[in-house]
Amino acid sequence: MAMILDGKALAAELRADITARVSALREAGRRAPGLAVVLLGDDPASAVYVGSKVKQTEAAGMHSVAHVLPGSTTESELLQLVAQLNADPFVDGILVQLPLPKGIDSLRVIEAIDPAKDVDGFHPVNVGRLSIGLPALVPCTPRGCVMLAKRARADLTGLHAVIVGRSNIVGKPMAQLLLAENCTVTIAHSRTRDLPALCREADILVAAIGRPRALGKEHVKPGAIVIDVGINRVPKADGGSRLVGDVDYDAVVGVAGAITPVPGGVGPMTIACLLDNTVTAYRRRGG
Ligand code: GUN
Repeated sequence: MAMILDGKALAAELRADITARVSALREAGRRAPGLAVVLLGDDPASAVYVGSKVKQTEAAGMHSVAHVLPGSTTESELLQLVAQLNADPFVDGILVQLPLPKGIDSLRVIEAIDPAKDVDGFHPVNVGRLSIGLPALVPCTPRGCVMLAKRARADLTGLHAVIVGRSNIVGKPMAQLLLAENCTVTIAHSRTRDLPALCREADILVAAIGRPRALGKEHVKPGAIVIDVGINRVPKADGGSRLVGDVDYDAVVGVAGAITPVPGGVGPMTIACLLDNTVTAYRRRGG
């Protein structure tokens, strides 16, 4: 049986550390780091994520600002809000929840965020800095994935990592972070030929495709580290629903060397890394 990579426990450790750092700042008479989250529209999954972000920001003793706006908000109204948050000295981090409603150009919004406050690490300046090895704000989900993989094996040097999914949020930054860990990196995607054979070459398999249980036993080399980024809601026989990953956990847990569960794997790490990025932004801004 695979080692279970418990993201819930590791995220709790990280949050405890962040809470202690914030508390030390406050005791020294300094202001708390601040995070602003912006949500447009009423997508239920996004509302849950944003709610958790606000709750955990407050629990860490940080300053939290939430802007929940109607789905009819225009791009120029959103850009105006971003400009206001850029100028707010009590806001160190700005997160605009994606995906944005149709008609709003996400890249234009991301480009409008001050790179020093871009705690998602999505601004071209941070993407570029990460790719050439300069200090950058690094996307939260891939950061959490690397931390979990290193729980299975502290030194990832020389391992072949296959990342399935080429998104700007996960796949591409994941490749940069694993390169920085001295892995040999392959990015696979929907047009990749013979995906199972390629995945079976992987010492580290990262699934970030957004399709429930799409990767099974035939995709996994015995002993591989499997990191499942997927969070998919699927119906249950009794009429309810449950969350599953992009990996068929029950089929793979007997083959992999280590695996992240869903829920309780990558998900909790993302928010913990977001809080950590906010403290980093605060420090670099001279908080
Ligand atoms: N939507 C899904 N994941 C993310 C994320 O990491 N950041 C933002 N802003 N939106 C998301």
